[in-house]
Amino acid sequence: MATDNNTILNEIPIISVCGKGGVGKTVISALLSRTLIETKNKPVLLVDADPVGGLTSAVGVKVVDTLAGVRNKFIEEARKGVKSDIEQAADQLDYFILNALVEREGFSLLAMGHTNDKGCFCPANKLLRSAIEVLISSFKGVLIDAEAGIEQINRDVTVRVNRVIVIIDASQRSMDTLLMIEKMVGAEKIAVIANRVPADIKLTLPGKAELYGIVPEDEELKKYDREGVPLWELPADNAALLAVKGIAVKLGLVS
Ligand SMILES: Nc1ncnc2c1ncn2[C@@H]1O[C@H](COP(=O)(O)OP(=O)(O)OP(=O)(O)O)[C@@H](O)[C@H]1O
Ligand SMILES: [Mg+2]
Repeated sequence: MATDNNTILNEIPIISVCGKGGVGKTVISALLSRTLIETKNKPVLLVDADPVGGLTSAVGVKVVDTLAGVRNKFIEEARKGVKSDIEQAADQLDYFILNALVEREGFSLLAMGHTNDKGCFCPANKLLRSAIEVLISSFKGVLIDAEAGIEQINRDVTVRVNRVIVIIDASQRSMDTLLMIEKMVGAEKIAVIANRVPADIKLTLPGKAELYGIVPEDEELKKYDREGVPLWELPADNAALLAVKGIAVKLGLVS
């Protein structure tokens, strides 16, 4: 990889939003990405890294194909002999990206999908890392809505991520996941966001990672999600959106 790219990788925010299942990763990714795009930090690369998808619909983008989906098809064709060299097929990252990347004003979105594990030459996480490296020079920031748990917190992906946002709720299990992530990436990289935690609950974080803010339980947001309305359409004065904006300022992502 060119030195230029390495510099970019170190300078622009590459954020992964992680945490236990159901804590609000997708909601906060959607609100944070809207915040980034509405400020000067664009274009932003959004990555829906949940194999079953989430961010894609939360922001109201229709995805025709996923990175892994394009790749799976390509490899199947190679197996049938349509393409001659299977090994070569597994390396066609530019082709996969070209067919899966959705480009819009101010942002692009890449949905990862899931790889067929059998005979997989390039595991999904390695694919994600490589995709970030290929695309990075065209963007001012990257935001990844990660898969639940710690599966994606491995060297392949996090070596490129410079900010890991860990979402917690008041549950012990969400704290356990935070602690596991902290052990893997170190407290310095982590910014903790407490989601849906009532103001009167005193939160004690299990490790050294710092709490950057609290996003309130929000009925309007819940209604949008229930009715399948993209969260980017929430009004500008929505309380959860404003809380996320405040956190983005604290994180130094917007001024
Ligand atoms: N601040 C909030 N106020 C109201 N509802 C919320 C809030 N945050 C999340 N929710 C609701 O909680 C549910 C789970 O949120 P979300 O899908 O963002 O979690 P997740 O961590 O991405 O889940 P998964 O692990 O399945 O990907 C959704 O129905 C969402 O509408
Ligand atoms: Mg999700």
